[in-house]
Amino acid sequence: MENYRTEQLNGSDPVAMEKACALLKAGELVAFPTETVYGLGGDALNPEASAKIYAAKGRPSDNPLIVHIADVAAVEELADISAIPDTMQEKAKHLMEAFWPGPLTVILPKKDIVPHATTGGLETVAIRMPSHPAAMELIKKSGIFIAAPSANASGRPSPTKAEHVMQDLSGRIPLILDGGAVGIGIESTIVDMTGEVPTILRPGFITKKMLTEMIGEVMIDPALTEPDKNLRPKAPGMKYTHYAPQGELTIVEGNASAITDRINTLCAEKASRGFTVSVLATEEHVAAYTCPHVITVGNEADGATVAARLYAALRECDAMGAQYIYSEAFDGTELSGAIMNRLIKAAGHRVIKV
Ligand code: TXA
Ligand code: MG
Repeated sequence: MENYRTEQLNGSDPVAMEKACALLKAGELVAFPTETVYGLGGDALNPEASAKIYAAKGRPSDNPLIVHIADVAAVEELADISAIPDTMQEKAKHLMEAFWPGPLTVILPKKDIVPHATTGGLETVAIRMPSHPAAMELIKKSGIFIAAPSANASGRPSPTKAEHVMQDLSGRIPLILDGGAVGIGIESTIVDMTGEVPTILRPGFITKKMLTEMIGEVMIDPALTEPDKNLRPKAPGMKYTHYAPQGELTIVEGNASAITDRINTLCAEKASRGFTVSVLATEEHVAAYTCPHVITVGNEADGATVAARLYAALRECDAMGAQYIYSEAFDGTELSGAIMNRLIKAAGHRVIKV
């Protein structure tokens, strides 16, 4: 792989934007902000660009990429929507109208123009129209459909700031467009429209309830919720241990005072043996901890604030060299499903119930 001197430039600077467009057109990679997390973009129709994405991230090549578009008409070019039943076609169009641009990815049968190098060998393609102005401008000005996974090194927490991308991909890509901290903080909701019933393959900011209100019955991929290890998630990316910090993360679940008591005990025990320990807690509970390193992750009552802070908090644990990390379970909001999906994976399923 080439060794780049990675530049980080302001995404709202027109000169930086032009440079980014030129790189994409030349088959090179550019990291850019979206409303969910930073993406690592390349030309979705150029198999060599897709190969570079996998190499830069160290990502398994059977894990398909999401294609980012700026205009609904692009769906026709990339996907064969006529290959799914009429009712599913209507529902797919309805979702695009309702939630694009925004944090929703739709899976459809692909057209030949989309290379297997981008879809991880699948006959389907994941498509999303991001709402972030810099992402929109990059797609429109370059005239390119941008394949973009999250811009982290494979297995690390997704990047919510340009600095996170620099930590993971410095020297591996030529340019990062800096758009500051992202708004949402967890990746898009993925809905598969190629089966009989619309199916959520990855929970996100657009919740099952929001989808159901628009199109009626929506399923969740059973592999996401059932403990049966033999079920394979339909989104290949959901099978990998993911989002993981370097320390051993454990989630403690139960009522609030039982959680703080247990975490205080666990911290004291680990600290007495000389380990560095950190705690992830919501604003409402931070004062109840006796441990020295408590990182605040939003407000208990407002899942959006937790989502926005979660990945940065996991990276802070790494930065302070935490060997053990204890996190409250972030239950009880509309976004709990999406947040706990990430946190449980980051914890390698280590959950203590109190
Ligand atoms: O919010 C997002 O979606 C971010 C930003 C950058 O747009 N992107 C993102 O991409 O999260 P990535 O590559 O980190 O995650 C893509 C997920 C993976 O789990 C992958 O397996 C799944 O989407 N996926 C992509 N194409 C698919 C397909 N054709 N069928 C099933 N799953 C697919
Ligand atoms: Mg990712």
